[in-house]
Amino acid sequence: KMEQTFIMIKPDGVQRGLIGEIISRFEKKGFSLKGLKLIRVERPFAEKHYADLSAKPFFSGLVDYIISGPVVAMIWEGKNVVTTGRKIIGATNPAQSEPGTIRGDFAIDIGRNVIHGSDSVESARKEIALWFPEGPVAWQSCAHSWIYDP
Ligand code: CMP
Repeated sequence: KMEQTFIMIKPDGVQRGLIGEIISRFEKKGFSLKGLKLIRVERPFAEKHYADLSAKPFFSGLVDYIISGPVVAMIWEGKNVVTTGRKIIGATNPAQSEPGTIRGDFAIDIGRNVIHGSDSVESARKEIALWFPEGPVAWQSCAHSWIYDP
């Protein structure tokens, strides 16, 4: 069924120059990019995104990591994109992710695993609402941008 998912390229992925490679894999699969922004988030926002993990021992380290630099926040759409997107991404722990997946090809440590993808349609809905409160595309000052008037 037609779905949307939230995909985030984490600060290590951005710093290592993997944005194009990652977007390319989702595009070539046939999914559609519905929203995209480069954004550096603050601690309370990152804590909200990872609220379900607040009791984990790695929580504060995870939040430190996510706020350490800009991330690329994206909305991708397509048939079964939540499940298939997670297949493209690979297992959370890069030690278990298969070669051919993003984490299998580009990551070694679970604490620096390059990318995040929503784990269910319900999480996707929540994460998209959190990261894109303005809607998928910012249209401000786009009026008449199709007119070529040098
Ligand atoms: P992500 O898909 O963003 O979902 C939760 C994140 O927590 C996960 O990727 C990892 O970045 C991080 N994570 C999960 N388990 C551990 C762990 N044992 N140590 C450090 N970070 C972890």
